[in-house]
Amino acid sequence: MRILLTGATGFIGGHILTGLQQAGHEVRACSRRLGVDFNRMVNDDDWMPHLENLDAVINAVGIIAETRGQSFEILHHQAPAALFRACERAGVRRVIQISALGADDRAFTPYQRTKKAADDTLRGTSLEWFVLRPSLVYGKGSSSEALFQFMAALPLIPLVGNGRQQVQPIHVSDLVATVLRCLQPETPARQTLDLVGAQPLALVDWLQLMRRAKGKRPALTLPIPFPLILASAHLSRFLIPMLHPDNLRILDRGNIADAGPLTRFLGRAPLAVEEVFTPKGR
Ligand SMILES: NC(=O)c1ccc[n+]([C@@H]2O[C@H](COP(=O)([O-])OP(=O)(O)OC[C@H]3O[C@@H](n4cnc5c(N)ncnc54)[C@H](OP(=O)(O)O)[C@@H]3O)[C@@H](O)[C@H]2O)c1
Repeated sequence: MRILLTGATGFIGGHILTGLQQAGHEVRACSRRLGVDFNRMVNDDDWMPHLENLDAVINAVGIIAETRGQSFEILHHQAPAALFRACERAGVRRVIQISALGADDRAFTPYQRTKKAADDTLRGTSLEWFVLRPSLVYGKGSSSEALFQFMAALPLIPLVGNGRQQVQPIHVSDLVATVLRCLQPETPARQTLDLVGAQPLALVDWLQLMRRAKGKRPALTLPIPFPLILASAHLSRFLIPMLHPDNLRILDRGNIADAGPLTRFLGRAPLAVEEVFTPKGR
């Protein structure tokens, strides 16, 4: 297929790009670094020259926190919505949107609400659409995994509250496998899928697993009260955008979903973190 991939220079987009190329697809990669800035792509007409002779479009652009000149409203909502409407006009058949877990009726942060707004626009088109809502995605190049690996390697692991927040990370290879399946003509379209690992686990258990995978003994932990973490996040977010208070609230609420629909979609269970972070030979 001939495919336009936005966000192709990012962590997820990069893995999707490799997967598409390995599967023999012809990919037009696009991102800000490659000359297409979403801030200037908010009208349907802006997209039309990019959509000639395409079979599918995959949108993997997004930000974890706003900065000067990078707003959720434009990057997550207005530009993708314009892209989806333009796809309808240009006769592109399949469109895959990389959204996020929590972009649903219970969305409570601007990150989630703007994702949902674009998802709703896509769902309102006549396109063959897929809305994929990943939980935390890990694998080579993941900045969130790098942060957790750093925390896990400390002799005393600082925890958000008691560290029992439920997470259900999905390995990036399972995300790519899902995208490839969405592109198969026999896969029925117009689906919203939550992309999660095989089962939930507590954040502290994931950190200790990461540690064990590096051959280290379990570490002592230092629970930091949630209100204190939130207060310090107003400063630390400038160093580490993932530590924005809203992202901590998302983490604290739990980032999990039923893995059943994804299991049925893939014809197998997604990877469990225990499979990935178990030391070789055990
Ligand atoms: N990683 C996760 O755990 C996770 C979980 C759930 C959902 N998601 C969603 O998945 C998507 C990709 O995430 P990621 O982790 O791959 O993020 P990432 O590594 O930060 O990549 C973001 C991509 O967006 C592009 N981009 C940023 N601003 C842009 C702009 N103004 N115009 C055009 N392109 C722009 C970047 O291109 P340049 O570098 O060229 O600017 C890059 O290719 C996002 O929508 C995110 O919300 C991610």
